[in-house]
Amino acid sequence: MSGTKATHLRLGVNIDHVATIRNARGGDHPDPVRAAHAAAAAGADGITAHLREDRRHIRDEDIDKLMNEIGLPLNLEMAATPEMLDIALRHKPHACCIVPERREEVTTEGGLDVAGHRQHMALYIRKLSDAGIRVSLFINPDSHQLEAARALGAPVVELHTGAYCDAGDAGRRVEELARLTRAAREGADLGLEVHAGHGLTFDNVAPIAALAEIAELNIGHFLIGEAIFGGLDSTIKRMRALMDKARAEVLGARTA
Ligand code: PXP
Repeated sequence: MSGTKATHLRLGVNIDHVATIRNARGGDHPDPVRAAHAAAAAGADGITAHLREDRRHIRDEDIDKLMNEIGLPLNLEMAATPEMLDIALRHKPHACCIVPERREEVTTEGGLDVAGHRQHMALYIRKLSDAGIRVSLFINPDSHQLEAARALGAPVVELHTGAYCDAGDAGRRVEELARLTRAAREGADLGLEVHAGHGLTFDNVAPIAALAEIAELNIGHFLIGEAIFGGLDSTIKRMRALMDKARAEVLGARTA
């Protein structure tokens, strides 16, 4: 059986790295909320932001503004810690994506070990879900993690695309794409909504956007970096167009 296929592939724009630049000087510029407005105007379907324990990206006071001023759903990325749970329950964003977090890492280096921490994850999934927040688990594209996410009642998984994006050679990239392809199908077959993200760029997004079981991509670092050269509006529009083209081609091919 083949799971749900999404015709519209949503784009969640992660504005963390606008905040990273702002925080480098400790002031208010550039404002990640202004970037979220620009992303909305350019065709983003949602805004994603990671409130880290060390607040290296967005700060607590950004959350209210991102929720109230933008008019797009906020996907708040957070570690499964009591502090983050309190914050999420206070703000009640549209979605929370639970991610692993280590203070010394440069970025979110791997997926959550949901299968290895079932009790802990179950508590966070239940508390967030009871508050009406859509819970997503950021996992590597592995069957046992998908099955654990399903068993614990998470409605959404986000597949970590980092290994595919960072693959050093073409053979490795093909293998990683095959893993993502299998995981997207398996996730949809399990009834999970499947998202993906990490490391996506203009050059590598199309094969991921062509996986029709994927409903949403969350993209940050490349969009913000590329915006230095092309501006946020045209960078997001170009990413949107690449995603739409890849999705339209694969859906057209399947119905032809
Ligand atoms: N999805 C999740 C869960 C993430 O943690 C990140 C990185 O913050 C992204 C997507 C976006 O990754 P990138 O910034 O490499 O596009």
